[in-house]
Parts: sequence; structure tokens; C-alpha cells
Amino acid sequence: MELKIFITFLLLLLLFLFSIFLLFGGKKYPDRLPPGSLGLPVIGQSLDLLKALKADKVDKWFQEGITKHGPIWKASLFGYPTVVLHGPTANKFIYTCDGNILTNSQPPSISRIMGSNNLFELAGHDHKRVRAAVALFLKLEVLKQYVMKVDEEIQHHLQMHWHGNHEIQVQPLIKTLTFNVICSLLFGIERGPRRDKLLPHFQDMIEGILAIPINLPFTQFNRGILARKNLVPMLIDLIREKREALEEQKQHANPHKDLITSLLSIRNDDGSTTMSDEEIIDNIILVMIAGYDTTSILLTFLVRLLANNESVYSTIVREQEEIAKSKAPGEALTWEDLTKMKYTWRVASEMLRINSPVILSFRRATQDIEYGGFIIPKGWQVVLSSSMTHMNNDIFENPTMFDPTRFEKHSPQPPPFSFVPFGGGPRMCPGIELAKMETLVMMHRLVTQFTWELIKKDESFKRNPMPEFDQGLFVRITPIKSNIYVI
Ligand code: HEM
Ligand SMILES: *[C@@H]1O[C@H](CO)[C@@H](O)[C@H](O)[C@H]1NC(C)=O
Repeated sequence: MELKIFITFLLLLLLFLFSIFLLFGGKKYPDRLPPGSLGLPVIGQSLDLLKALKADKVDKWFQEGITKHGPIWKASLFGYPTVVLHGPTANKFIYTCDGNILTNSQPPSISRIMGSNNLFELAGHDHKRVRAAVALFLKLEVLKQYVMKVDEEIQHHLQMHWHGNHEIQVQPLIKTLTFNVICSLLFGIERGPRRDKLLPHFQDMIEGILAIPINLPFTQFNRGILARKNLVPMLIDLIREKREALEEQKQHANPHKDLITSLLSIRNDDGSTTMSDEEIIDNIILVMIAGYDTTSILLTFLVRLLANNESVYSTIVREQEEIAKSKAPGEALTWEDLTKMKYTWRVASEMLRINSPVILSFRRATQDIEYGGFIIPKGWQVVLSSSMTHMNNDIFENPTMFDPTRFEKHSPQPPPFSFVPFGGGPRMCPGIELAKMETLVMMHRLVTQFTWELIKKDESFKRNPMPEFDQGLFVRITPIKSNIYVI
């Protein structure tokens, strides 16, 4: 324990010295830096921001800074001097100038767990190449054919974990669901022991990523690194099997059988593979980590909303029953069905506005940048919070009110870069269509098979930094009798 504290201290000291070093970068332009205080380096305002995150008050934290210093200000966050920006113009700047003057910023500790070849780490040409390969499978035209597969996973999930139970914890359950969907669709791993072996490794990796990066036996960070060590050989086996299957089937192989097969099938003009095995490994790890928590959070918030808001609930039920009526009991949903779930998706969009799973985006300046009359020195961090824009009174009238009509066709559309739950520009989330598909199918199956109520009416959540309900969102469920499907 003492050693751990000592090492933490040493680490903080190093970070401290490093940020002093970066501060000298800023000394070149003493008059042109944004206002604000860098506080105590390293610890600086990080603790404040973490507190605001926990209380889900990040937009208020940003607003306080703006009131004190103006629209562009500086702070010291997570080890770096940081310029805090907000608003659609800043969002556009941060999302679209990416790669040239701003790069993604990941602490090196994260790449020890997630690998150094994934999209988060890559920039410029490499990012473009790998991104195009990953996005190919996630495009609507390809995904469309997999609605049935997602539906099958969801129905199986409800059969296993919802039917026959009276009280459930929604958030952890839905996490296993989104994990299973990604295993099936993206990894091409069917249900069984292989999947079950993967899950704890991914969970350890995610905990490791969020932990203090101290690599000593028994720390969370250490468990994350070990999880990666154990996972990689499994993924290597998986890739080898997929490659062999592709070679066996030659022309008859379906290159879009799953994401891994798709990545293996992409060739350069000279026939060589576009992506190395290392790149494939790191990016399927990324896709799992980026895809499963986020989607499960959206679904969990929707379950809570429907328990609390009778008017939204009954409108969704009406829309979904209409679709259910046109189908035989147990018949799988199709892409066509999803296109009819317009109201349900507007509710989900409004939920993404009010409770975005991802509310902070960080970048780093690769050179001195002039922005809004100030200089952002090379090496400094830039941060924006999507919830700041989403809660802006000038963009969304009555921003705290839950109002899905904002997303109706005839309503005035929010200006570009002001509704950004999925980011924007070349690094915008490539998983939108998959997230949408999972959300719509799950909502359909839920409201046609169950009613539910919250056991703890005001169960709250903390952001760590992803929202986590204190008791996993405890609900009491009742199956709707006429709709118990047997699959
Ligand atoms: C409701 C669900 C989701 C939300 C709210 C969400 C949100 C985001 C956001 C905000 C970013 C950009 C971060 C930034 O610019 O700093 C992002 C990137 C990314 N997301 Fe998602 N995401 C969701 C679901 C998914 C799914 C299902 C997948 C998997 C297929 C996925 C894969 C990725 C990947 C690979 C990136 C990195 C892209 C790049 O750097 O080029 N996401 N996501
Ligand atoms: C439920 O949602 C409707 C429609 O957005 C909204 O007008 C109403 O205020 C909400 N009710 C509650 C209790 O939150």
C-alpha cells in the first residue's frame, strides 16, 4: 500500500514537471493565452471537473468558467494545460481540423491496454485507411441485412434474463446484451463458452483504462494489462480461423460475414491486405470498448424514461404495437420495420441530447494554433463538452425539457455541430447505425413483452466518467401475457 502511494506521488511529480515544461511553451506568448488560471498543475481543476462529472453537472462547470473568464479560457486538466472551448463553432473547429493541427489525445497508459494501432491512436493517412476499413462493415447498406441477427440476440437475452424474473438490474444486464450483439455481429462468435471467456477480459480492460495508471500487482491498471495479454492470443486464433474459412470458400465467401472477415477481405490494388493483424486486433478491441458501454447507457436511460413518462411511453407503445400487429408472433424484425419507428428514434435522439453517454472530447495541439484571437500553444490540450452545446438555450429552447418533437421533420433543425452525441468530422462515431439498430429492436421487444416500474423512484447515477446508476437501475417487470413468445 505504501509503495502504491509513493509511486502515485512519483508519478504526479513527473506529470507536474512535465506540465511545467509545457507551460514554458506558453511563455512565448504571455499576452495571447486565453484568460483563466492553471491552478495547481496536474491536480489543478481536475478534481473539480471530476466532481462535476460525478454529479452530472459538467455543463454547469463549463458555464462557471465562461462566466468568470469569457468564452475561451484555460485550466489545468488531467496533467495538461488545457484550453476550454464551447459552442457549435468550436465544435466544428475541433471535430474538423483534426489531424492537421489537433490530434486525438490519449494518455500513453491507455494504449498499453488498448494497443497502439487503433483508430483513437492513429492520425492522418493511417487513420483514414483504417477508418475506411472499419466503417465499411458498419455502413447501413451492410448492416441492414443483420437486423434479424440483432433481433435474435435480443430475444434470446430477454428469454434468458428478463422472462421469469421479477426484479432486475437493467444497466448490467443490458451491458451483457450489447456485448453479445458485438460478439455476434462484429466478431462472428456465436453463443457459447468462447464468448463467456471473452467478457471478463473486456471488463478488466475497461476498468484498467479508467483506473489510475499504476502498474503494480493487483492494481486495476495491472489487471487491465493482463487482460489484454490474455485476450490477444484468443483474438489471434479467431483471426486465423476467419482467414482459413475465407481461403477455403474462396469466391463463395461472404466478405461481410462479420467485421473481422470484412477487415481480412479488404485488399490493396496489388492484392496485399490493407490491414495488418496487429491493426485488426487493436481495432476490434476498440470497437468493443467504444460500442458496448455507450449503447447500453442509452438503452438504460430509455428504460428509466419510459417508467417515468406516461405520455412518451404510450406513444412508443402505440408505434411499436402497430408494427407488431403486422407480424406473426416471434417473427423477426426487418430493416423495413425499423424505418417505421420514427417516434421511438426521436425519443432516443432527445435522450442522447440530454444524457449523452460521451460528454467530453479531448484533443492535443500539434503546433501553436491561433483561435478566437488567442494562442493555443503546441502540446496543450483542448477540451469540449457536447453537453454544453446540448444545454444551450439559444440552440435548444427550454433545454432541460425532454421534448422529442425537436427532432420532427418540420421542426427547425439544430444548426450544424450543435447536436453532437456522436461527435463530428473525420472521427465521428462510425457505430451510429449499429447503435440505432440495437436501440430500436430492443425498444420494440421490451414494450411489446413487458411493463415495468422503477423500484427506487429517484435512483440516481454518477458519471465515472460514463453514467452508472447507483443500483444498476432496479426495476420490477411484468410480462405482458398475450405476448410471451417461444423461440
Ligand atoms: C449510443 C451509442 C454511441 C455513442 C453515444 C457513441 C459516441 C461516440 C463519440 C462521441 C465518438 C467520437 C469521440 C471524439 O471525437 O472524441 C465515437 C467514436 C467512435 N465510436 Fe462510437 N458511440 C456509440 C456507439 C458505438 C458503437 C455501437 C460502435 C461500434 C461499432 C462505436 C465505435 C466507435 C469508434 C470505433 C469510434 C472512433 C472513431 C474514430 O476515431 O475514427 N460507437 N463514438
Ligand atoms: C413527458 O414527456 C413529454 C413529451 O416530451 C413532456 O411534455 C412532459 O413534460 C414529460 N413528463 C414528465 C413527467 O416528465
